Amino acid sequence: MSASLRRLRLGVNVDHVATIRQGRGTRYPDPVLAASLAELAGADQITVHLREDRRHIQERDLAVLRQTVQVPLNLEMAATPAMVALALEYLPDTVTLVPEKREERTTEGGLDVAGQRQALGEVIATLRDHGIAVSLFIDPTPEQVRASAELRAATIELHTGDYCEADAPLLAQERLDHLRHAAQLGHDLGLQVAAGHGLDYRNVKAVAVLPYIDELNIGHAIVARALFVGIERAVREMIEAMHTPEATQPSR
Ligand code: PXP
Repeated sequence: MSASLRRLRLGVNVDHVATIRQGRGTRYPDPVLAASLAELAGADQITVHLREDRRHIQERDLAVLRQTVQVPLNLEMAATPAMVALALEYLPDTVTLVPEKREERTTEGGLDVAGQRQALGEVIATLRDHGIAVSLFIDPTPEQVRASAELRAATIELHTGDYCEADAPLLAQERLDHLRHAAQLGHDLGLQVAAGHGLDYRNVKAVAVLPYIDELNIGHAIVARALFVGIERAVREMIEAMHTPEATQPSR
């Protein structure tokens, strides 16, 4: 582990355990069990995305997770009236508002906070009034960071997908710089800063050392590795990767 005083938190997203279950309509594998094991292995937070099409996580999962998870429970959801009603029913510790399109394979791009101030402002205020801290999943641009601060979100989660998909070192470095500047600006404006999407055991290292990012939410890479090594080891190895600086720039 690095000697850094900063303690980078890991939110483990268990959606893809539910993806396997929904593929056959069975009761197994259970994302609730995965969440408990992830927690035992050191996860600081459990994250689930209850999508409007219910393609993986179900309402039942949210209900049982709310009763069983000891660490903070982070619900990713679209900013719709139906989802807000569910959040108020189950009261996760945090809600991360994400854009959602039915036809997408996974969340593509961040929320356009700057373009939807009115609607998002109302959703944020409602959730906050019920004791739920709100995070906004945004692209790492100054415009979106500023708009998030204006709407008094507690946290921004910076979309790392573009960085993860960069297919050349220079491009990755450029996108990492966008993340670095957005994190700095968010911090300066009084926001907590998280990051996530597409992070794996290699590309996580360069993000983990960026100043002012306190939390990473990671799902697919951990669940994929868990198939072969078990979820507890997969979580422990991710925590280790996050805290072991890379010797050189990642090759991609
Ligand atoms: N953060 C947010 C806001 C997401 O929507 C997702 C995907 O559900 C993740 C993090 C995790 O992404 P991945 O599964 O690629 O690690």
